[in-house]
Amino acid sequence: MTNDMRFPEGFLWGGAIAANQAEGGYLEDGKGMTNVDLLPRSNKRRAIMEGKIDSLKPNEEDFYPSHEAINFYHRYKEDIALFAEMGFKSFRLSISWARIFPNGDDEQPNEAGLKFYDNVFDELHKYGIEPVVTIAHFDVPVSLIERFGSWKSRRLVDLFEKFSRTIFERYKNKVKYWMTFNEINMLLHLPFMGAGIVLKEDEDRNQVLYQAAHHQLLASAKAVQAAREITPEAQIGCMLAAGMNYPYSSNPEDIWKGMDKDRESFFFIDVQSRGEYPGYAKRFFEENNLDIKMQDGDLELLKENTVDYIGFSYYSSRCASTDPEVLKNQTSGNVFGSVKNPYTKVSEWGWTIDPKGLRITANQLWDRYQKPLFVVENGLGAVDTPEEDGSIHDDYRIEYLREHFKEMLEAIKDGVEIIGYTSWGPIDIVSASTGEMKKRYGYIYVDRDNEGNGTFNRSKKKSFDWYKQVIETNGESLGEEV
Ligand code: BG6
Repeated sequence: MTNDMRFPEGFLWGGAIAANQAEGGYLEDGKGMTNVDLLPRSNKRRAIMEGKIDSLKPNEEDFYPSHEAINFYHRYKEDIALFAEMGFKSFRLSISWARIFPNGDDEQPNEAGLKFYDNVFDELHKYGIEPVVTIAHFDVPVSLIERFGSWKSRRLVDLFEKFSRTIFERYKNKVKYWMTFNEINMLLHLPFMGAGIVLKEDEDRNQVLYQAAHHQLLASAKAVQAAREITPEAQIGCMLAAGMNYPYSSNPEDIWKGMDKDRESFFFIDVQSRGEYPGYAKRFFEENNLDIKMQDGDLELLKENTVDYIGFSYYSSRCASTDPEVLKNQTSGNVFGSVKNPYTKVSEWGWTIDPKGLRITANQLWDRYQKPLFVVENGLGAVDTPEEDGSIHDDYRIEYLREHFKEMLEAIKDGVEIIGYTSWGPIDIVSASTGEMKKRYGYIYVDRDNEGNGTFNRSKKKSFDWYKQVIETNGESLGEEV
């Protein structure tokens, strides 16, 4: 019986973007500046993302790719028409907090910002595409960073709740799927990019980051509570940068290290989905002398407002080892570096390519949480070179996606409930980790280069028709040439 199983009817095939990597118009129509508008494409980018350099004003010599990004702000109609042509059932995007509340704590929301997303949602519905909305995809209004130190401060909890309530009220008839924080575990790795946090030299890194995590977890729970009140039909999820840490060897020390590493990320989802701080986290706080300030009612709030589904990004698996020799051989991969796995290939950016890892990760999350899963990011960042006639034969991307789809189907056959799949950057957008345009994920090519040259013109790659066919056949056709 299971061999005949296909993707479920109504499976939400689609694509995903984030406001700052696609919209541009970074100060248009009253939008305020955010942390992610302050990431230059230069060799300082990494240190800024890590919160090691205080960079709250743009520097004139630097190029900031997100300021114009791919101009989705003005070209969304054309882009959505192309998504519709591919047959998208869903489209994931984020709402820029600073488009709605330019300073983060303004009395009234910015009507022009609200109107922009109204227009985008209306355009999506025109084609029967379901919006999937991330409330915060890394962005924090700079004014909140300057005045309060961003998520270091508990003030942000209520401000985020106000932002969430405002958008639930406004879009309750247009949006059914919400997620609170994109890759919430990014906070521990790239605190400035992920959460607007600049670390001062005299600060205890863990103390600051886990306190900020508590604030984000409270904010997430408050958003869930508000969604239930304002838009009870909606589904609201969390979002994890996923990918298992395989033990490098069968040495029990490596097995434990892998488990421990996984828990560093699961910690967030354990709270968001199970509603309480896990024992291993309490032990970690204690042993590291962390004093996480909580108020009366916090733990009840977390307990009573758990998420409906688990959204996750999957690009790579990782490897964990305790052997100093093995540890010398590192590779990158969605920001979390890891020991290189001798059994897998890597992308042009050194990210491990491991399709089976998607099945493993989906099973792992299902076993742990028993809640519907939504694969909200996956894809291959690669260099695309247009032929003389402008065509792009991105067979490597098709191969990557095909292999991942096969494994996603295997997970479904394993009994894992997966409600949809939105590939990352269905149209080329700015890379979060490097700020490059050259690192492309799209089915749609955008004429724009790393230095900001180009016409912004859109054109279809070979993968465009391939993905269209996958969606048309609900995944029946994965292997055939188009
Ligand atoms: C995820 C983020 O970490 O990976 C996205 O949610 C990001 O914002 C994506 O773009 C791919 O990473 P990159 O660095 O290739 O853009």
